Amino acid sequence: MIPQDGCRETSRICQLAPVISVLTINSSEQAGRLASALVNGGLPVLEVTLRTSAALDAIRAMTNVKGSVVGAGTVLTPADIRAAKDAGAVFGVSPGATERLLSAAEAEDFPIIPGSATASEAMRLLERGYTVQKFFPAEASGGAAALKALAAPLPQIKFCPTGGINMDNVGDYLNLENTICVGGSWVAPDALMSEGRWNDINALAQKTASLRN
Ligand code: 3PG
Repeated sequence: MIPQDGCRETSRICQLAPVISVLTINSSEQAGRLASALVNGGLPVLEVTLRTSAALDAIRAMTNVKGSVVGAGTVLTPADIRAAKDAGAVFGVSPGATERLLSAAEAEDFPIIPGSATASEAMRLLERGYTVQKFFPAEASGGAAALKALAAPLPQIKFCPTGGINMDNVGDYLNLENTICVGGSWVAPDALMSEGRWNDINALAQKTASLRN
């Protein structure tokens, strides 16, 4: 898949909701209920980070939840791409980008949102055709002000800022022309997940889904 086709798909996915839920899951048993709480709350796009041994089983479980659009996060290697795809993930997100990673995603027809944090990184990805990128780590890289500054010279790139975003600062990003959506883990806090407070997560999802960019 050429990057332009992948970006058409990631662009479509990013426009399904204002926020992608970034989920690091310790037990795949909770995955179905977590996904239902988020999807029914209006956040269909779920990014399961490949940082735990439960991640791939969680992706498998979540793809069974009606209305979910499940992707893999923290995709770092070609092996991660193959494993995510085999588990049923329909897109990937990476904190950065390497030649090997991009080549594997393109060869596997796997839409990917690669990460950039500087103008040069964003330009290198743009040169290759990636017009949808993750701005990471968003807050530590200068936050909404830094992302806004990138819009003037690079208006053709749309970003999904992620890293340090929460209910207090999400509006600053969603107001920007070059933010296509935001990613964040605040919609499913560890404490609520470990206590199985699915109704509370559903309420948080509803509140988040009502935000608009
Ligand atoms: C990511 O995995 O993309 C980010 O680490 C999520 O960042 P957050 O936990 O600060 O929302």
